[in-house]
Parts: sequence; C-alpha cells; structure tokens
Amino acid sequence: MKNSSIHRPVRSFVRRKGRITSSQKSALKNLLAKYGAVYSSDMGQLSSSLLGNPKFPLIVDIGFGDGELLVTTAEDHAESNFIGIEVYDAGIGHCLKLIEQRKVNNLKLISGDAVEVMKFGIPNNSINQINLFFPDPWPKKRHHKRRIINNEFILLMTKKLAENGIVNISTDWEDYADQIGDLFSKRGEFLEKSSTARNVSTKFEKRGISLGHDIFNFCYKLISQ
Ligand SMILES: C[S@@+](CC[C@H](N)C(=O)[O-])C[C@H]1O[C@@H](n2cnc3c(N)ncnc32)[C@H](O)[C@@H]1O
Repeated sequence: MKNSSIHRPVRSFVRRKGRITSSQKSALKNLLAKYGAVYSSDMGQLSSSLLGNPKFPLIVDIGFGDGELLVTTAEDHAESNFIGIEVYDAGIGHCLKLIEQRKVNNLKLISGDAVEVMKFGIPNNSINQINLFFPDPWPKKRHHKRRIINNEFILLMTKKLAENGIVNISTDWEDYADQIGDLFSKRGEFLEKSSTARNVSTKFEKRGISLGHDIFNFCYKLISQ
C-alpha cells in the first residue's frame, strides 16, 4: 500500500531554493551560531542563551522575512528579549547581517518551522508577545489548509503565552482577515484590542499596498488559558 504522505504534516511554507546573495550565505555560515540556531524538533527546548533572561519580556516574531522591522523593534525595546523564527535562508542571512552591523544584543534567530519551535522549543506561559506580520496568505482555496493561523495554532499560542500575553497579526488578504477574525471571536481566551504593533512598514505590507490591498491589523490579549 502506498502511504508515503500519511504522516507528512501540512506545512505553512515550501522550502524553495530562492535567490540568496553570497553575503547572506556567508552570514548564515558564520553568524547563525553566534546569534541563533538551526532548529529541529528532536532538540527539545531552546537553550537559555536563546530564550534570554526570563526576568525580561519575551517577544517572538514568526516569519520575520528580511527582518528589517524585527531588528528595528528589538533596538527600540532594549528591555525585552526577541526571538525571530523563519525558514527563508535569504531572509535569515539578511537579518543576521543587520544584527551584526547594528550590534543588536537582545535578538536571537531560529531557522526552522515556527510550529515545531513553538511546540517543542519554547516553554509554556513564557511569551509576552507574538507577532505574525503578513503570514503567507495561500490565496487558493485548496491551499487554505496551509495557512499558519488556524484553530490548532491559536491553541498552541494560548499555551505558550504568559498571562496577559499579546498576539499581533497583520494581513493584506481580506478573506484571511475574515478567517482570523472569525477564529478568534469564536474562542474565549482572547480580548480584541486596538493595534499599535508596527511603526515601520514591512516588505510585504508595501507589496500589499502596491497591489491596492487594504491592511488589516489585529491585536488580541490573552485573558484566560
Ligand atoms: C509573506 S512573508 C512576510 C514576511 C515579513 N513578516 C513581512 O511582513 O515582510 C511570510 C514569511 O513567513 C515565513 N514562514 C511561513 N511559514 C513559516 C513557518 N512555519 N515557520 C517559520 N517561518 C515561516 C516565510 O518563509 C515568509 O518569509
């Protein structure tokens, strides 16, 4: 019997051999061990040097892309620890170069599937803020199952968030925004607040605007686990 796909999880990304510059490649090779790690689920919990001092707030950015916003936000909030999770090598390489150039010391990058990193790498009740800016929209209906924000992932976020933890989400895809609004409104754990998460546009926000899309920003505060 052919059952090779039975245990393959539906992922929110496809690893493509995209364009990567030689300096991004060299940053991945030389800087990732200094400012982060490659993650696989058998590694279990992230080390304390990656998680940072638990006395300070922990902010996690899922799918940070090129990391321009993440680095600026980390610089602006020196009192918090930041972890960025991404699977896109060129973006990770770009962000590593920014961290090195700008001497950012409160940000670690994890190369790996955010679902696995969240499930196995990050302790429960430890994250103060999760940022999901412009998650891949998977616009075709048959691909909607790949969207990272679904019931299961929201449940995972409730487990990982600390008391009064915040989830910030932005998208420029109206039907994804509708889906996000519906999913959260059907749950009892979150209170919707007005969003103040970003003061800098991301690459994908600019792309959405250039396509004539509206931008939808959500901010949810955890009120019960
Ligand atoms: C549309 S881009 C947005 C990037 C950035 N936040 C921005 O606004 O410019 C979505 C990003 O999420 C990343 N991504 C998708 N699923 C992921 C996952 N499961 N774990 C880590 N990164 C993921 C993709 O590689 C991609 O870089």
